[in-house]
Amino acid sequence: SIEKSLRPATLDQYIGQDRVKHELSVYIQATKQREESLDHVLLYGPPGLGKTTLAMVIANEMAVHIRTTSGPAIEKPGDLVALLNELQPGDILFIDEIHRLPKIVEEMLYSAMEDFFVDIVVGQGPTAHPIHFPLPPFTLIGATTRAGLLSAPLRDRFGIVSHMSYYTIEDLTEIVKRSADIFNTKITDQGAHELARRSRGTPRIANRLLKRVRDFMEVSDKQAIDDEIVAKSLRFLRVDEEGLDEIDNKILKTMVEYYHGGPVGLGTIAANIGEESDTIAEMYEPYLMQIGYLNRTPRGRVVTEKGYEHLGLSAPQQN
Ligand code: ADE
Repeated sequence: SIEKSLRPATLDQYIGQDRVKHELSVYIQATKQREESLDHVLLYGPPGLGKTTLAMVIANEMAVHIRTTSGPAIEKPGDLVALLNELQPGDILFIDEIHRLPKIVEEMLYSAMEDFFVDIVVGQGPTAHPIHFPLPPFTLIGATTRAGLLSAPLRDRFGIVSHMSYYTIEDLTEIVKRSADIFNTKITDQGAHELARRSRGTPRIANRLLKRVRDFMEVSDKQAIDDEIVAKSLRFLRVDEEGLDEIDNKILKTMVEYYHGGPVGLGTIAANIGEESDTIAEMYEPYLMQIGYLNRTPRGRVVTEKGYEHLGLSAPQQN
């Protein structure tokens, strides 16, 4: 599929996240030289930054198989055993949203990660008995939006903990150009830069917007995506000058218009705009905080002076 072909296959092809990439390349090379399985890896950071892609790149570089699943998809211990049972030595199990694993499954992971076995209870009542189930050495790669969402015992069992950060405009420009190339679509330097600048530091958003902008270009009389087509398309898509979408702006406006810019609780904001609290906390707030429009305080969220300016307003005087 198109999605798949956009994914880089090697660390060399993977653009950005230089620190993470460099660290991983060292661990991968050393592990291969020792002919061992890679230590467990925890990737954390906002959605859309390429955590799943990076897990696939690691599998490719280690030349092992990867099984991908997610925390909520593993409902009971038996589901986890079934997944682990399919692994060959050195294989990777990738668990997205690992902070959403049921507790009983998470507890089973401890011995699996540390000593490559699980104890499962079979039978019921007086015939119930544990069975010791050895596993091949494997690598668990877990992905989560914030490392703090994991319990300490689980977090501590990852030997490698990597933080993914928002991409620079330069890196995103390169990603946009690479994707346009894969789509066989021409894009000018300025067009790529403008799209990158308005993609909230997030490759998933850049690639999604690129597809839409390409549609606008193809029905226009232009032969390449330029900054003008980008600006026109994004206006139509309600993506503003800073790359904020309607929900970003709704969050800021609601806080300003109804709550004097805060402090206001996350649940209150969510109820007002009709979005899930988790969606706001994990997908929207981190970027608004990164660009300095929003702050988290012990008493709730507050819009900053910069946030007010973005709405074309000036912040109320502090008393
Ligand atoms: N496509 C999406 N994310 C990418 C990345 N980090 N590097 C290269 N291509 C990508």
